[in-house]
Amino acid sequence: MKVLVTGVNGQLGHDVLERLKAQQIECLGVGRLEFDLTNEKETEEFILGYHPQAVIHCAAYTAVDQAEIEKELCTTVNVIGTGAIARACRKIDAKLIYISTDYVFNGRGEVPFETDVQPLPINYYGKTKFEGELEVKKVMEKYFIIRTSWVFGCNGNNFVKTMLRLGKDKKELSVVSDQVGSPTYTWDLAKLIVEMVVTEKYGIYHGTNEGYCSWYEFACEIFRQTKLDVKVIPIKSEDYPTKAVRPKNSRLSKDKLEAEGFNRLPAWQDALRRYLLEI
Ligand SMILES: NC(=O)c1ccc[n+]([C@@H]2O[C@H](COP(=O)([O-])OP(=O)(O)OC[C@H]3O[C@@H](n4cnc5c(N)ncnc54)[C@H](OP(=O)(O)O)[C@@H]3O)[C@@H](O)[C@H]2O)c1
Repeated sequence: MKVLVTGVNGQLGHDVLERLKAQQIECLGVGRLEFDLTNEKETEEFILGYHPQAVIHCAAYTAVDQAEIEKELCTTVNVIGTGAIARACRKIDAKLIYISTDYVFNGRGEVPFETDVQPLPINYYGKTKFEGELEVKKVMEKYFIIRTSWVFGCNGNNFVKTMLRLGKDKKELSVVSDQVGSPTYTWDLAKLIVEMVVTEKYGIYHGTNEGYCSWYEFACEIFRQTKLDVKVIPIKSEDYPTKAVRPKNSRLSKDKLEAEGFNRLPAWQDALRRYLLEI
C-alpha cells in the first residue's frame, strides 16, 4: 500500500508518517512546500501524480481563535482544500482519512457525543471542519472521518507545552474548569489511523485517549506528573474570554471503535506520562 500524509510538519501528520514507516508501509509526507491547500489545482495535480492508494489528511487551518478573523482563509484550507483532496482521491480510487474535531458539536449536555449525532458547530473553525466532512461525504464512498480532541504531540505547540512553559515562571495559574473533553496523544492516535487505513471499515469514528477531564484537571495532572509546584485555580469559561467560543461538553463516545473491532486508545493520564518522557 502507498500512502500520502498531509500536514507532515504538524503534530499529527508527523507521527502518522513515523508510524507508517515503522510498519514498513510505503509513504510520503507532504507540507506546504509540496502543495498549498489554498491552490486546488496544485493539490489535485500532486495527488494524481503521486497516485497513492490512501491519503491521510492531517493538514488543516487549526488556529481556532484566529479563524474568527481569517474566515476566508480558514474556509479555503479546511473546506475547499479538503474538497480538492477528496476529488483527487475519487479519481484514482484512493481511500481518504479525514481528521476532524470535537468542535463540530455544540457542546450541550454531559453525555458523550456518538458518531451519528448531528454536528452543530459553535465557532468558525468547527464550522469549516464540519463542512470539510461534508465535502468528503459528498464526493467519496471509501472514506474514514476520525474526530479527535485536545491534541498533543512532540512536533508542535499544545496545551502541555504551554503549561510547562508558564509553570516554570509562575506560582499560580488560572485554568478553565467547565470545558470537559479527552486529551489525545498524537502517537496513540497515529497508531489507530494506521490500523484503520489498511481496512475497509469506512465511516465516521471518534478517536481520542480514554477518560474525560477539564482543562483544569489536565493542568493539575501535568504539574503532578512533572512535580512542578504550581497552584492551579479553576475558573469558568466566562472568566477567560476568547475570540472563539468553545464547547463545554467535548466528550466523544468511542463505542463505534470497539463495535468495528478497533482497540480503544490508552487512558489520557498514561498517554501524558509517555509524552512527558518523550519530550
Ligand atoms: N490540535 C488539536 O487540538 C486538534 C483537536 C481536534 C482536531 N484536530 C485536527 O487534527 C488534525 C491535526 O491537527 P494538528 O494539531 O496536528 O495540526 P497542526 O499541528 O496545526 O498542523 C497542521 C498542519 O497543516 C498545515 N497547513 C495549514 N495550512 C496549510 C495550507 N494552506 N497548505 C498546506 N498545509 C497547510 C500546517 O503547515 P505549516 O506547518 O506550514 O503551517 C501544519 O503543518 C487537523 O485536521 C485538526 O483540525 C486538532
